[in-house]
Amino acid sequence: MTEIVVLAYSGGLDTSVAIKWLHEKYHVDVIAVTIDVGNEKDFSAVRQKALKVGAIKALVIDGKELFVKYFLFPALQANALYEGQYPLATALSRPLMVKLIVDAAVAEGARAIAHGCTGKGNDQVRFEVGINALAPDMKIIAPAREWGMTREETIAYAQKHGIPIPVTKKSPYSVDENLWGKSAECGVLEDPWVEPPADVYTWTKSPAEAPDEPQYLEIGFEKGVPVTLDGDVLDGIALIQKLNETAGRHGIGRIDHIENRVVGIKSREIYEAPAATVLIQAHQALEAMTLSKDQLRFKQKVSVECADLIYNGLWFSQLNRDLSAYIISSQRYVTGTVRVKLFKGTCNVVGRKSPWSLYNLGLATYDKGDKFNQKAAEGFIHLWGLPVKTQAQVQLLGDKEGPLSIMGPADTGEDR
Ligand code: ARG
Repeated sequence: MTEIVVLAYSGGLDTSVAIKWLHEKYHVDVIAVTIDVGNEKDFSAVRQKALKVGAIKALVIDGKELFVKYFLFPALQANALYEGQYPLATALSRPLMVKLIVDAAVAEGARAIAHGCTGKGNDQVRFEVGINALAPDMKIIAPAREWGMTREETIAYAQKHGIPIPVTKKSPYSVDENLWGKSAECGVLEDPWVEPPADVYTWTKSPAEAPDEPQYLEIGFEKGVPVTLDGDVLDGIALIQKLNETAGRHGIGRIDHIENRVVGIKSREIYEAPAATVLIQAHQALEAMTLSKDQLRFKQKVSVECADLIYNGLWFSQLNRDLSAYIISSQRYVTGTVRVKLFKGTCNVVGRKSPWSLYNLGLATYDKGDKFNQKAAEGFIHLWGLPVKTQAQVQLLGDKEGPLSIMGPADTGEDR
């Protein structure tokens, strides 16, 4: 009996060529598995294409609900941004794809899984670390890493084997999309000095062409998860789609990032993530109101760890579980409503309210009704500054050999 290989199939050129190539090189039958993570593709066409190219079976699995529930909203609760910029759309989708593809491979009796990633990116790492974690006996084949064909050669291979190549003028960029955002690389973007041409952007209007009137939105959160838009209860998928469309229309969510890949390369990526940008901002504003100073500071550190772990392909590690437990616990009181103003490429939080708010008007106000005891500040400052005062008397004012200036070291320009 011919061996079966399950291929993570996107419908693009590389994975289509991989179907034929796997058959020729390894004499295996290919089952194409495509995961719908909300990139609005014509999935029945993708399925038909896999079959036409020679897959013995083609499955499309709707992963949108799982994606939102187990990946996107937890990442939002963590405010996960890789290197402070990238909301991790692609990185978050890979472990879900791994899980669903491993399940399909086991169900189909396959002993190998193939993916279309090259040897230079993060996605190969995420796929393979994930597969090794969930199915240690599964063989992994990476055709695009093995075949060593240039893009022209891949196209020639496709033509020779009657694999359809999109007739429309192919986008000069390498693109990946899902509910949480879009990424673009390659072409002129590889020169970090070149401003991204207008045609890179397909999700967002140019801020200059965005509406001249601002738009206000109210986002309701429950325990750190967005549940309403302008008072309407929406499921996660609909809420994210609506926000992508609305904020995208106002030119929000463009990100130009020189990022550090797992494999040691710096790369220039253009992201569009309108919903993620607005939601993370709004979520942070609600946290600012409902978490203590100490919780906020600690959570920022956890957030960086979460983002790195997701980016680095370590989703299935126990550290992820540990950090998630902390994140979920931290969201107990992150319930309330945030009002944002969308205008010409910017999103600003202009209002927030919560039944669990720690903002106390009686303490904050400078008007009548002030409940803050200003007298108590005197004793507080005395004790707070006591260590500094004690130290300064001995080591700052008392040290005759010490620096002449008590202002600390300064750049005088003499060394330049
Ligand atoms: N640089 C981003 C990441 O590593 C986006 C990668 C996009 N992947 C792709 N196959 N085009 O997550």
